[in-house]
Amino acid sequence: MSKKKIGEVILDVQNISLRFGGVKALSDISFDVREHEIRAIIGPNGAGKSSMLNCINGVYKPQEGSITFRGQTFKHMNSRQVAELGVARTFQNLALFKGMSVIDNLMTGRNLRIKSNLLLQALRWGPAEREETEHREKVERIIDFLEIQAHRKTPVGQLPYGLQKRVDLGRALAMEPQVLLLDEPMAGMNVEEKQDMCRFVLDVNDEFGTTIVLIEHDMSVVMDISDRVVVLDYGKKIGDGSPGEVRANPDVISAYLGTSH
Ligand SMILES: Nc1ncnc2c1ncn2[C@@H]1O[C@H](COP(=O)(O)OP(=O)(O)OP(=O)(O)O)[C@@H](O)[C@H]1O
Ligand SMILES: [Mg+2]
Repeated sequence: MSKKKIGEVILDVQNISLRFGGVKALSDISFDVREHEIRAIIGPNGAGKSSMLNCINGVYKPQEGSITFRGQTFKHMNSRQVAELGVARTFQNLALFKGMSVIDNLMTGRNLRIKSNLLLQALRWGPAEREETEHREKVERIIDFLEIQAHRKTPVGQLPYGLQKRVDLGRALAMEPQVLLLDEPMAGMNVEEKQDMCRFVLDVNDEFGTTIVLIEHDMSVVMDISDRVVVLDYGKKIGDGSPGEVRANPDVISAYLGTSH
């Protein structure tokens, strides 16, 4: 791994609790994420990992706790506001427009940054045309970066699953995020696709300096690429530290071995 410089705390999750009726999806969870790090969230199925990301990006409203992003504290994040603050995410179940081309899917990631109004855009007139060109150039750069040039015009639904996941990453990157939340970006992939995705995640982190919060089940991937790891189990935090520390934590070991704890 490169000798990157981990910075200040950029995202601070404080005492988050989230209930769905009688189900406690998250119980008093606190952890922080530092600038430029790859912060993994791991845990068995139903541990609350996706719910945690959904609290961070404003999809779920936790009953307790708060989240501080770049010094601003929120009780409830609001999805649009979070995106504007520079947080993007990919989804465990892809959220792409399957009938639309790769380019057009990536352009949806630029929506937030498109300033001119729809009428001017429709007329492709003056500033709107210039703006559209700029956005297209940004999207083309991401396409090159992710090595999907050959599929630029292909409807996303026709691509193999591994490439669809890559397009989903591209859509998130098109938002030029400071923090990228990735929910199982390698799930369902074969070994080669996983290796590619790992490389892209590392390159995004390295080349763009993007801070990454990564949910991943594959332990070898987590141990290889993350700087620090949070472990959730039944909505509780049972471990937090470097990959080595977490691997040696008895609570983590028993959660993964399925013994009572
Ligand atoms: N919208 C919802 N309504 C009701 N219960 C929910 C909802 N979202 C999550 N839960 C519940 O919260 C708990 C945590 O779910 P979550 O999806 O966060 O787990 P996870 O760690 O992401 O699991 P997996 O590894 O299977 O993706 C589960 O018991 C789940 O059934
Ligand atoms: Mg999940």
